[in-house]
Amino acid sequence: MKRPFPTVAVVGLGTMGAGVAVAVAQSGRRVIGIEANEDSAARALARIEEATAHAVARERITAEDRAAALALITVGTSLEAAAEADLVIEEVPEQLELKRELFAELDRICPPQTVLATGTTALSVTRIAAATARPERVLGLHFFNPVHTMKLVEVVRTVLTAPQVAVDASAFARDLGKEPVAAGDRAGFVVNGLLFAYLNQAAAMYESRYATREDIDAAMRLGCGLPMGPLALLDLIGVDTARTVLEAMYEQSRDRLHAPAPILGQLVAAGLLGRKSGRGFYTYEAPGSSRAVDTAAAGATARVPGRTVRSIGVCGSGTMATGIVEVFAKAGHPVLLAARSQEKADRAKAQLAKSLDRSVAKGRLTEAQRDAALALVTPVGQYGELAQVDLVVEAVAEDLAVKQELFATLDKIVKPGAVLATTTSSLPVISCAAATSRPQDVIGMHFFNPAPAMKLVEVVSTVLTAPDVTATALELCAEVRKHPVECGDRAGFIVNALLFPYLNDAVRMLQEHYATVDDIDTAMKLGCGYPMGPFELLDVVGLDVSLTIEQVLHQEFREPGLAAAPLLEHLVAAGCLGRKTGRGFRDHARR
Ligand SMILES: NC(=O)c1ccc[n+]([C@@H]2O[C@H](COP(=O)([O-])OP(=O)(O)OC[C@H]3O[C@@H](n4cnc5c(N)ncnc54)[C@H](O)[C@@H]3O)[C@@H](O)[C@H]2O)c1
Repeated sequence: MKRPFPTVAVVGLGTMGAGVAVAVAQSGRRVIGIEANEDSAARALARIEEATAHAVARERITAEDRAAALALITVGTSLEAAAEADLVIEEVPEQLELKRELFAELDRICPPQTVLATGTTALSVTRIAAATARPERVLGLHFFNPVHTMKLVEVVRTVLTAPQVAVDASAFARDLGKEPVAAGDRAGFVVNGLLFAYLNQAAAMYESRYATREDIDAAMRLGCGLPMGPLALLDLIGVDTARTVLEAMYEQSRDRLHAPAPILGQLVAAGLLGRKSGRGFYTYEAPGSSRAVDTAAAGATARVPGRTVRSIGVCGSGTMATGIVEVFAKAGHPVLLAARSQEKADRAKAQLAKSLDRSVAKGRLTEAQRDAALALVTPVGQYGELAQVDLVVEAVAEDLAVKQELFATLDKIVKPGAVLATTTSSLPVISCAAATSRPQDVIGMHFFNPAPAMKLVEVVSTVLTAPDVTATALELCAEVRKHPVECGDRAGFIVNALLFPYLNDAVRMLQEHYATVDDIDTAMKLGCGYPMGPFELLDVVGLDVSLTIEQVLHQEFREPGLAAAPLLEHLVAAGCLGRKTGRGFRDHARR
């Protein structure tokens, strides 16, 4: 096959343009760099030389590679030079009029077959294409910053882009060593479309003082394995940029979840744009620095001391109960594993033994540690045995009636002053508390699955939880080496309230045929460094579980944008629940 686009012009050699120019030259293509004036051209050349020298120093490329790439790049100030290019990539600042004028000029200068690509993040590619007489040869090529490390390129087709042009552009991206995904012309494309709605919700959550900055960020890192928390990421992207992208998204979707959270506007007005200005959600050592200086250590705020917890009861015999028992036993607490029958309790302890054996086999635990942990666990077949424990965590079925009955039972049995915790992920903690005569002693401790491995625990205080009970849960988490985050008793707590609307948005994108399952998963993994794409995650979590959480969130907040995507409901109705049934968004049986 012929190599697509042997000569490429890059107009605007700033952050993105310089990176693109180098990537294109490294693929052996001639690059015609064009800048606005002599000064900026000189700066651009210096930037390119510096970036490639850095790459040599870091041993990403050899000195010969660098010399070869630099020899292919020229930088000038005349747009007429673009006439020689097969493809022009525009990377000038994000202003519609500037880009439209430039495209009109390029249309005049370049031969009719030349393909014109815009690097816009949030502007309409269609409107840029409309400034030319060749909209069928105009498309978006959205690279990610920094270009040399980010493998993703969104190839954006408008309704007028010729299919072959998009095919050639994708082949070109692959030739640069990138992974192209196909997207239509919609504000934010795939990655930012999904990312910014989530970032906006995180900003709104912080603004409403539902949780602290540190806790929101820690929850998403530790609960979802994301490389950065959302508020730290907003600071990195730039609060002003985020606000602009959200404005563009809102203008198209009219979805209130895209309307920039008021705090973003306040920060922009105050000049607090994030890392680049030295302060945004966090304060940094200096402008441009990545080191935040005002982070409060978790639990540093003065609080009352917690109650003493020695012996612990765990109710339930399933995955979560067994995992939570393991956490406490490994930390040296005597644990009563209380199930509805002795047989169930014994079976759960056998599961625990297996899990500990696996840890020994993997070298994470010694045999002596395993034996010590097992010896601390007593399986019991009735809740009556829990009378003397200091704290109970219940991890029985996610059914409010079942949990309320259990709390009423515990209320009668457990000694006064003991802490009663639920690990519910979607039911109101206060409804469990209200089933007892001591709601002040009831709290949520939301562990994540698998509990022994996941560091995060959401500590959920209700309007009636006593301060020393909250303190007890926080201290216990720290003692068993979990990372607690604090939040109030509302649907989804922190993690699910931010995660599931994002997953739902991805389903909606698919349902609207905006992009494919594979492209959306690839885009989020490569564009945001997520460990799994949204559809991979939905298939693992279970589509039924996900649907329930989305329904709970919608019921709580009544936000139209939170309504579960019909496609998710259909798949659940069809019995496609994800990996557990062999089929969800993907067919796992055939793989
Ligand atoms: N920075 C990012 O993280 C990022 C990521 C993806 C996409 N983008 C998009 O890429 C595009 C470029 O953004 P950037 O961050 O590189 O901007 P930038 O400000 O770093 O660079 C823009 C460059 O364009 C030059 N320029 C301005 N007017 C020009 C003209 N008429 N002719 C030629 N050159 C001109 C400027 O001198 C400057 O060097 C924007 O559309 C932006 O939205 C940015």
